[in-house]
Amino acid sequence: MSTFQAPKGTYDLIPPESAKYLAVREAIAAPLRNSGYGYIETPGFENVELFARGVGESTDIVTKEMYAFETKGGSKLALRPEGTASVLRAALEANLHKLGNLPVKLWYSGSYYRYERPQKGRYRHFSQVGAEAIGAEDPALDAELIILADQAYRSLGLRNFRIILNSLGDKECRPVYREALQNFLRGLDLDEETLRRADINPLRVLDDKRPDIQKQLTDAPLLRDYLCDACKAYHEEVRELITAAGVVFEDDPKLVRGLDYYTRTTFEFVHDGLGSQSAVGGGGRYDGLSEMIGGPALPSVGWALGVDRTVLALEAEGVELELPASTSVFAVPLSEEARRVLFTKVTELRKLGIAADFSYGSKGLKGAMKNANRSGARYTVIAGERDLAEGVVQLKDMESGDQTAVGVNEIVAELESKLG
Ligand code: HAM
Repeated sequence: MSTFQAPKGTYDLIPPESAKYLAVREAIAAPLRNSGYGYIETPGFENVELFARGVGESTDIVTKEMYAFETKGGSKLALRPEGTASVLRAALEANLHKLGNLPVKLWYSGSYYRYERPQKGRYRHFSQVGAEAIGAEDPALDAELIILADQAYRSLGLRNFRIILNSLGDKECRPVYREALQNFLRGLDLDEETLRRADINPLRVLDDKRPDIQKQLTDAPLLRDYLCDACKAYHEEVRELITAAGVVFEDDPKLVRGLDYYTRTTFEFVHDGLGSQSAVGGGGRYDGLSEMIGGPALPSVGWALGVDRTVLALEAEGVELELPASTSVFAVPLSEEARRVLFTKVTELRKLGIAADFSYGSKGLKGAMKNANRSGARYTVIAGERDLAEGVVQLKDMESGDQTAVGVNEIVAELESKLG
């Protein structure tokens, strides 16, 4: 070990486990790529004000969890705690909403940073794959996103996740509900901090996990009963579309999210094998966010799935991903001339798209065969002085253990046909 370790709340992705993370990212991205979403990448940091305005001044993310700093030039920046505000900022900046048809559909994959108290499933550096559909108000778009996330998880072999769904209303009906909830909360026995929260962001109090608070909330008014007709009809349409697609979900009238930009449809993917950090993904509609960050009205919807927690969920379910072996052919030279010959063959195989590796450094046959075994290669090609003198190399089938001599000039074609 060196003097240094990964910072608190972070961890390294190291082979062979790291292959799982790549596979998860790819599995989440595949249905998006297949549904008209284009890839977007934005910087790891942004103007801090983007998140303050976008995610919400009073959210935990902005008040406690942001890695905010001032640059030498005096700019106030923050490492991105989430992707939605950045993606919308980038889309507006590039005028994507004016260039083509709406919605603008984008997907992304990257690192996010929150200064949270680390525990299993909760890290200070984590990874999300997300999707945003910008500039359209259409229940089919909300449904599409939920269906695609469901499809991604199923393609990975996950089964024990649940989708919970709610509507948070819009600027017509939410304020009426907010006031009703505030009146209710004022009548409860709450500590000072919670009362303050009830003033600033009463919906967040519903999300308080403490049992004594939850007990008092049993009779709290529900947003469901305050939705205006337009929100009700919209939500009903989303529910019908995902039901028709065979996606199972649960209505959760108490679902609130930790970010302030949501309107109407909100959802979370939860996995029951993860303990307290059970949300593997979440998202919803954010019809007002564009205006909150100085853009035009652009009703939008999206989600982000956590890669770290999805991997934990796979482990909790005992799902083994079928990862292709990273090496198909391993070359073991036993003389100087063999090194040159086999190195050329490895290069040729790689050009043909066959994953091949080589025994580097001067190892004896035993050490080199150990490496061949560890590489997971299906075939090993071994050559020594005597083989080359006869114009052959030895082809070893690592599954059966059989070994046959193959002509030096035939070996590449032979492997190509064997590996199909
Ligand atoms: P979020 O619910 O804050 O939503 O994060 C989405 C997912 O990221 C979570 O469900 C979780 O899997 C993962 N995640 C969040 N924080 C951590 C952490 N500290 N450690 C490990 N994993 C974590 C958003 O970020 C929204 N931008 C989603 C969205 C997109 N809404 C609309 N569009």
